[in-house]
Amino acid sequence: MIYTVTLNPALDRTIYVDSLRVSESNRIRREERFAGGKGIDVSRALVELGTPSVALGLVGGFDGKELEGRLTLEGVDCRFTRISGETRTNIIIQDIAANSETALLARGPTVGPHELMDFIALLESLPDLDFAVISGSLPPGLTPAVYRRIIEIATLRGARVLLDTSGDGLQQGILARPTVIKPNRAELAEFAGRAFADIPDIVRYCRTLLDRVATVLVSLGAEGIVLVQPGRALHARPPQVEVKSTVGAGDCSVAGFVHGLVKNLDETDCLRWAVAAGTAATLCPGTGLCRRPDIDGLLPRVAVAEVTA
Ligand SMILES: Nc1ncnc2c1ncn2[C@@H]1O[C@H](COP(=O)(O)OP(=O)(O)OP(=O)(O)O)[C@@H](O)[C@H]1O
Ligand SMILES: [Mg+2]
Repeated sequence: MIYTVTLNPALDRTIYVDSLRVSESNRIRREERFAGGKGIDVSRALVELGTPSVALGLVGGFDGKELEGRLTLEGVDCRFTRISGETRTNIIIQDIAANSETALLARGPTVGPHELMDFIALLESLPDLDFAVISGSLPPGLTPAVYRRIIEIATLRGARVLLDTSGDGLQQGILARPTVIKPNRAELAEFAGRAFADIPDIVRYCRTLLDRVATVLVSLGAEGIVLVQPGRALHARPPQVEVKSTVGAGDCSVAGFVHGLVKNLDETDCLRWAVAAGTAATLCPGTGLCRRPDIDGLLPRVAVAEVTA
């Protein structure tokens, strides 16, 4: 079974106003609520791909229950660990007239060490952990060493691990040798401490990471994804599309790649699935993720080429 890990999930509350006026009262026209979080989005995209997964993570309070209930209604299997703090709520204000979005992002509840250990105990007890997908930021109270520990546990149990995070989480997590990492270009530049001139430059740098990671995927927005493994480097590009929203594109790419891996497709095809699912996410407006018919239409249009570097 694939387990996704979201340690800092959120309830996203989208509020629609005619025209946002700061320092004045604004009447709300409409409200929507979604369960959010990067690992959760991977699980959601996997539902669309027809690949089973279970979402793990930390939830608390009334909003935590609401998040779990919403995912259950969507058909996303979850097995969350309860914490005493309240799950955070992000507020997204949609200005209808200006067609603009203002986001107010909450930090999340502080997680206690005993709550972390409840999560670890669950992870250690899973009888069918084949693949762990660890995505997103850490909540207050947890340190990047937690990602390292989760990867160690999953690896000891014989599972493959994909780590999609940035900053210290990536710096620490990579020490536990995840199977795959998927930074975007900016996250890789931050990790490397330098900018990259071009794709061969990215490939040369990624090769220096192959002592710690078997597969490095670097997502490049409209330029697709670069895959670097010992002995090969591939660049997959999507066709040009009319982009509605890039929200969740990276998470859909992760889902596409993992879907290919668990279906035992060869890595070139896994890469195609990653690009097709990521680009499919850009065809859905707002927070909408990828849709299967869009992915199926995009798959044959993804161009894969070897990179000489
Ligand atoms: N403008 C675009 N046009 C076509 N495809 C896109 C575009 N932006 C993103 N994608 C697709 O989505 C994939 C992942 O995008 P990106 O590199 O932006 O991920 P990310 O920065 O990790 O995103 P996220 O913010 O969701 O974490 C790309 O590899 C590509 O397939
Ligand atoms: Mg990302």
